[in-house]
Amino acid sequence: MHPDGPSMSDGTKKTVAIFISGGGSNMLALLRSMQGDHPARPCLVLSNDPAAAGLERARALGVPVAAVDHRPFGGDRAAFEAALMPHLDEAAPDIIALAGFMRVLTGGFVSRFAGRMLNIHPSLLPKYPGLNTHARAIEAGDAEAGCTVHEVTPELDSGPILGQARVPVLQGDTPESLAARVLEQEHSLYPAVLRRFAAGDRTPVFL
Ligand code: GRF
Repeated sequence: MHPDGPSMSDGTKKTVAIFISGGGSNMLALLRSMQGDHPARPCLVLSNDPAAAGLERARALGVPVAAVDHRPFGGDRAAFEAALMPHLDEAAPDIIALAGFMRVLTGGFVSRFAGRMLNIHPSLLPKYPGLNTHARAIEAGDAEAGCTVHEVTPELDSGPILGQARVPVLQGDTPESLAARVLEQEHSLYPAVLRRFAAGDRTPVFL
């Protein structure tokens, strides 16, 4: 890692908390990007799954990590979010980047971070909000698929679009092969959008 450290901010940089649920390949792309003259630095990686592989990867890069298991809260999303708050109060992020975070957040939580929360979604929104995006694109016979980074608003996968990257859907594609092609683009798109967003520029990035 760069000597000025992935988790250190000198106070002139924006700080970023990244929320994950799994392997965290997008998280890793974001962490690796936040170095040198980048206008932001990571301050926390947070997971709803204590076993998420991404936590170890973040820790190995010297980034503070925390996990709050959502399962004991059953369907009580607000109680789960209340349990996230001490971690967020401590890290005090300027920006939250959802990166494969598989929990729906309440309107209350989203409003608290209004205009400061991003998400990456594996479709060309407004097409295919929700799950199974790649299967749905193949099923529909789409010639193109891709990914979108958007601002998070209370309605799922519907906030203002801050960037999109496109890939072709190839003959014989399976949801898995298409997902792999899209994921590669996610790793370029999300860092590009975060860099711009952290500098205060919301002009969409199109790759
Ligand atoms: C990505 O495809 C993301 O768009 C989706 O979940 C996947 C997360 O992958 N929401 P990773 O954890 O970043 O590797």
